[in-house]
Amino acid sequence: MRSASLPVFPWDTLAEVTATARAHEGGIVDLSVGTPVDAVAPVIRDALAAASSAPGYPTTHGTAALRESVVAALQRRYGITGLTPAAVLPVIGTKELIAWLPTLLGLGAGDTVVVPELAYPTYEVGALMAGTAIVRADSLTQLGPSVPALIYLNSPSNPTGKVLGVDHLRKVVQWARERGVLVASDECYLGLGWDAAPVSVLHPDVCDGDHTGLLAVHSLSKTSSLAGYRAGFVTGDPAVVGELLAVRKHAGMMVPTPIQAAMVAALDDDAHEQDQRQRYARRREALLPALLSAGFTVDHSEAGLYLWATRGEPCRETVAWLAQRGILVAPGEFYGPRGASHVRVALTATDERVTAAVQRLG
Ligand SMILES: Cc1ncc(COP(=O)(O)O)c(C=O)c1O
Repeated sequence: MRSASLPVFPWDTLAEVTATARAHEGGIVDLSVGTPVDAVAPVIRDALAAASSAPGYPTTHGTAALRESVVAALQRRYGITGLTPAAVLPVIGTKELIAWLPTLLGLGAGDTVVVPELAYPTYEVGALMAGTAIVRADSLTQLGPSVPALIYLNSPSNPTGKVLGVDHLRKVVQWARERGVLVASDECYLGLGWDAAPVSVLHPDVCDGDHTGLLAVHSLSKTSSLAGYRAGFVTGDPAVVGELLAVRKHAGMMVPTPIQAAMVAALDDDAHEQDQRQRYARRREALLPALLSAGFTVDHSEAGLYLWATRGEPCRETVAWLAQRGILVAPGEFYGPRGASHVRVALTATDERVTAAVQRLG
């Protein structure tokens, strides 16, 4: 059975603490998965509805309008220059792309994929699906003389909220270029900088305007609360994007036409994206001091959608302690062995639920 070669689906291990949290008299405050809860902006819903008559197949490359909107939004929002619409490829949510990227690239036994020491688990899943070796490393010196096929970056990080500075990103890009290593930068939290300013790997300050060997992966799930739409894209090196397109055409990995239209509306409108950012900022401003005064230490967390918190004990004990208070969070061990004494607290709950959590921590 193929699934036997994959890790236990981590969220399945939370059934007992979920039941405990649900039993709280004030109801559960779910800060575990990080699923967006705020309504989809009307401008996006209208675009979806207007495109709902879609009898024909979409193209794998997506509409020209979508790819042009991506190029414009990345320049406006993040200062990324030099992209062309041809180098943009829509994906059915970025988890799909990440789970399949090593396979789509033709990697396999004999290849190595490098993932951050604390990382979104799907990087590892994608490597396992392709049968590559996996190395967990946050610095190039940890890699020694070995030459991997693919390095993942994720800044701001899920789960830690750590931001990689321009100097660090430049070093990785230069190191990878000298060795012909592909860098895939997962940038789904790029717009959520709080105490630090995240920068794209495609920003000219990082890559000097040369996108060779670089991919940036962007999701609309969090920026526009579109997780239910499954909407993301990958862009960067035109040759690599072209190769992904060629394989994905055969595999039927197409984003539905109405979703593409909704993505255009989301990418063209910065107002709802800024509103969403403000909501997360407010929730962070409520939860962060509440955790600190409840005796937690919060590490990193200078950006992104999560607080990386510890009580200096095994993470499952902290998860259970919070579940007794009706608050569900993710154990840090989901993200790598170095997370064994942390929990990840998502900022994705309604203001009402966040207020409940703050009261319970008080
Ligand atoms: C770091 C990171 N990458 C990718 C994803 C996948 O997002 P989606 O598949 O909704 O685009 C997530 C979702 O939480 C994430 O945290």
